Amino acid sequence: ARPAVGIHDLSAATTHHVLTHATLAATNGTDVAKYHRGIGLRAMSVPAPDEDIVTMAAAAAAPVVARHGTDRIRTIVFATESSVDQAKAAGIHVHSLLGFPSATRVVELKQACYGGTAGLQFAVGLVHRDPSQQVLVIASDVSKYALGEPGEATQGAAAVAMLVGADPALVRVEDPSGMFTADVMDFWRPNYRTTALVDGHESISAYLQAVEGSWKDYTERGGRALDEFGAFCYHQPFPRMADKAHRHLLNYCGRDVDDALVAGAIGHTTGYNAEIGNSYTASMYLGLAALLDTADDLSGRTIGFLSYGSGSVAEFFAGTVVPGYREHTRPDQHRAAIDRRQEVDYDTYRELHEHAFPVDGGDYPVPAVTTGPYRLAGLSGHKRVYEPR
Ligand code: CAA
Repeated sequence: ARPAVGIHDLSAATTHHVLTHATLAATNGTDVAKYHRGIGLRAMSVPAPDEDIVTMAAAAAAPVVARHGTDRIRTIVFATESSVDQAKAAGIHVHSLLGFPSATRVVELKQACYGGTAGLQFAVGLVHRDPSQQVLVIASDVSKYALGEPGEATQGAAAVAMLVGADPALVRVEDPSGMFTADVMDFWRPNYRTTALVDGHESISAYLQAVEGSWKDYTERGGRALDEFGAFCYHQPFPRMADKAHRHLLNYCGRDVDDALVAGAIGHTTGYNAEIGNSYTASMYLGLAALLDTADDLSGRTIGFLSYGSGSVAEFFAGTVVPGYREHTRPDQHRAAIDRRQEVDYDTYRELHEHAFPVDGGDYPVPAVTTGPYRLAGLSGHKRVYEPR
């Protein structure tokens, strides 16, 4: 029999700064209830000048390496849609910062917010091929829209590092998966832009179509029945989207849509996302972290995962929570990462938003701001230079 394969460790990190939606609302004249209730967000993580997807990724992965070492990790998969280089995989910087051996495979994956799930599924395949090996899957993103656009309120930043292996301590990933791809331009970022373009309402419809499509494929391939799931973990561009998605799924399955039922299914998955904002590839796995960290004992319960990446690709799959998982979660680390962020006022946020990402290839020492374990020291000769803090 094939061994169970899945998520053995899960560790998240975010940025040094935070902007609250109360501050954003007070500045742009929006009723704060639109943010708090309408889209379900309280605050968004904002990177310091010396933070990016690499520093967050290294901060997320370091505790995993501290706990498990690097001996069995033969592959690092880095998923992102806010890449810092068009050629070099960001994971190589993480490999270097964390002292991985040279006998490691490192690659970067992209398909909008779906990339982390592609990484997880490819990792599961690699572990089935050789169950003695583990794969480090990292999802790290800075979500950025132009100032004043509707998407601005749904920015954020975070990284999640997952160790994938046989006999996992947290979640066993199951077959089958339900897949759905459609060629839509709901959200995209051309190579010459640092901020994403989006057709906001079109993107919500595209997401809901993808929920339907991937669930349909999942059930046609012999997946579990709706009632077998104890919780649903959705990609969260903003937490209200999980609520919309679950209502849509219940409707599609011909079920009554009851508020308490929806809250029970998704409630514990939104806590971290509500305070961090959109973290693209990391978002659904931050939802999983919140669920494992804060829900009552889920041992043996099955979680439904719906991963969506604009453009678009979606996948529905199930995972079963391993009894004893609570000895391996990281609730204190995750709470501390959220709580230690320094709040910024709107002008500081605006300055960071407009000038945090030099693109002209000049030499820039970067001011030392982050209190995280790794920092971007500067840009020199078109190269990004990272260092432990
Ligand atoms: N009190 C309470 N609720 C209020 C309110 C108030 N005063 N004012 C408005 N609301 C509610 C609205 O009724 C609405 O809720 P419903 O959807 O249930 O009707 C909600 O707040 C948002 O209001 P609007 O639709 O008017 O907001 P908007 O036009 O400013 O746009 C948005 C919202 C489309 C999400 C926009 O923020 C956006 O474009 N975000 C980026 C794109 C995005 O996140 N898309 C999600 C799917 S794509 C994806 O998932 C990939 C990804 O990560 C990007």
